[in-house]
Amino acid sequence: MKVVILPNDQLVAHYGANIIKRQLADEPRSVLGLATGSTPLMLYQLLVEQYQLGELSFRGVTTFNLDEYLGLSGDHPQSYRYFMDRNLFDHIDIDTAKTFVPDGAMARPQAAAQEYEHNIKVSGGIDVQLLGIGVNGHIGFNEPWSSLGSRTRVKTLTARTIADNARFFADDEYQPHLSITMGIGTILEAKNIVLLATGKSKATAVKNTVEGPITAGCPASSLQLHPSTTVIVDEAAASALDDPEFFKHIERENQMLLARNDL
Ligand code: PGA
Repeated sequence: MKVVILPNDQLVAHYGANIIKRQLADEPRSVLGLATGSTPLMLYQLLVEQYQLGELSFRGVTTFNLDEYLGLSGDHPQSYRYFMDRNLFDHIDIDTAKTFVPDGAMARPQAAAQEYEHNIKVSGGIDVQLLGIGVNGHIGFNEPWSSLGSRTRVKTLTARTIADNARFFADDEYQPHLSITMGIGTILEAKNIVLLATGKSKATAVKNTVEGPITAGCPASSLQLHPSTTVIVDEAAASALDDPEFFKHIERENQMLLARNDL
């Protein structure tokens, strides 16, 4: 697991956006796994800016989002389909037929989940999967005690996640308690994983992810088993790590090698 600690959230977004940019330069027909939430917003803004400057094209790209609320259709302002359209897809040259978000309004969600898995497979698999992390260590909507081998399925949200996301819903608005989410096993099949975390509220989850035992109690700790995961955090999110200086040292060395073209 590569851990990159940066001074602030802007630099976290830049670092993440550069990984996507390099991926698309290497393979314009890449398959990207995308995430919603506050954390990746700045990264999406950077991708839009780079597209507008003519530095990036998404014409050949396919995307799969991690999750969706069950019971919300894509035109609901709190749905993740709506979020992705407004914050990224509407502003770039992607073919919307190749942007997949689990369908929260399907009558048979379990069948929809299996179809989602099938579509990922048919696309050739995810090249880079972007992740945020919940305060409780969830990835996607895989809450603590999700099976580490889980696949895309219907999942009940914890009270903590419902409370964390309540800020997006009006007081009198229906807030779903169920979701449809890629499983941890699905996420771990991505070729590369990039997890972003910013702010002090994520410090314990980041510590458990990087240093903790691999446990379903912190779903993100399963990433320790993945051969190519980059965890990009700001100082606040890194603040509970035992030895942040070690990770900074490694990153400085990597950057030196990169500058010399040795990596
Ligand atoms: P956030 O959510 O980016 O809004 O903090 C992350 C998550 O719950 O995965």
